Amino acid sequence: MNIATHPFDALMDITARPQAIFVRGEGSLLWDNTGKRYLDFVQGWAVNCLGHSPPVIVDALAAQAKLLLTPSPAFYNEPSLKLAKALVDLSCFDQVFFANSGAEANEGAIKLARKYGALHKNSAFEIITFEGGFHGRTLATMSACGKKAFEPLFEPKVPGFRKAKLNDLASMKKLINDKTVAVMLEPIQGEAGVWPATDQFLQELRALTKQHGLLLIVDEIQTGMGRTGKLFHYEHAGIEPDIMTLGKGIGGGVPLAALLATERASCFEHGDQGGTFNGNPLMCAVGLAVLGQIAAPEFLKGVADTGLFLESELQRLSARHGLGEVRGHGLLLALDLKLPIGASIVAQAFDAGVLLNSPQPDALRFMPALNVGRAEIGEMIECLDTILTRTGVARRVA
Ligand SMILES: Cc1ncc(COP(=O)(O)O)c(C=O)c1O
Repeated sequence: MNIATHPFDALMDITARPQAIFVRGEGSLLWDNTGKRYLDFVQGWAVNCLGHSPPVIVDALAAQAKLLLTPSPAFYNEPSLKLAKALVDLSCFDQVFFANSGAEANEGAIKLARKYGALHKNSAFEIITFEGGFHGRTLATMSACGKKAFEPLFEPKVPGFRKAKLNDLASMKKLINDKTVAVMLEPIQGEAGVWPATDQFLQELRALTKQHGLLLIVDEIQTGMGRTGKLFHYEHAGIEPDIMTLGKGIGGGVPLAALLATERASCFEHGDQGGTFNGNPLMCAVGLAVLGQIAAPEFLKGVADTGLFLESELQRLSARHGLGEVRGHGLLLALDLKLPIGASIVAQAFDAGVLLNSPQPDALRFMPALNVGRAEIGEMIECLDTILTRTGVARRVA
């Protein structure tokens, strides 16, 4: 019997979703199939760094689609060569492998670290990751995650991941042994509720990993590509990691991700890594167009300024309603609600035409387009203010 009696039923039911169907987007706005307008502070989960359907992406897609979709990864193509060179020139890394999702890029980083261990560290393979960390949903990346809810799922997990505490160097030191090859972390833990690693912790981690000959892997899938006001977040701490993964913003809304490594760490041999769509010209042409916009110093300064504006507006709102701290950096911020009301606020905002995200029951996460306007921030804050006033949060927190 066919169970798909309703169009929604033909999709696997992998998460709770509101029954709106989105049909069009422009900048910070989205519309559903009833014509309802939404102001979007989720942006595909920090993906659409230039907003919905920006002309620069539409044009790049159309131009490349007319030229060449894919010649196969067995041959070079121009956009992937140009994008790899541009990323290398703008970072501390020497080589790039393109992937189709963040999880796939992280899976590649894990493989690269294990390869490095096999070649240079007496087959060491363990990677120290962090409690609360999120690295994706393949079996190896779920095993690398420090997300509590993943622990009972899909056992047995891939072995070789030990979990330290973020910003606690001693907890990490304890886990280093002769099987350890790398340390992997998100510079800001996004899914866990926007918890930043301090610059000092990143610097100490870099020094410690160097001292022990370990690779430092930064998962910049959420923090990279200008999200925190620098092109890559590691620049804030003035460190140079060995491996970095990028996803989300690198494609500005299309499936593109990347694994970058220094010359020392870039040790794949023929047959170790690959994939049918990896580095296809259509996605890489978009990546080039996106990078051309966001790597400009004035664009990154704009992100930092807008981030400070959003942060101060959220702090004012928090003070008005007696809520908690505002965490994060640039345009990746969270508001501590002090109460488990995140889902209810997200639902009320949705009804009011504002898209918000609550990664933890007591936190809201803000990850708008990097070119979001101050008027749009004002509209979102006003909506939140109305909801918080209506629900009497201030009284309950007090
Ligand atoms: C830090 C981080 N790493 C990895 C991933 C996985 O990326 P993807 O969903 O593209 O596989 C995410 C996605 O939210 C992420 O935030």
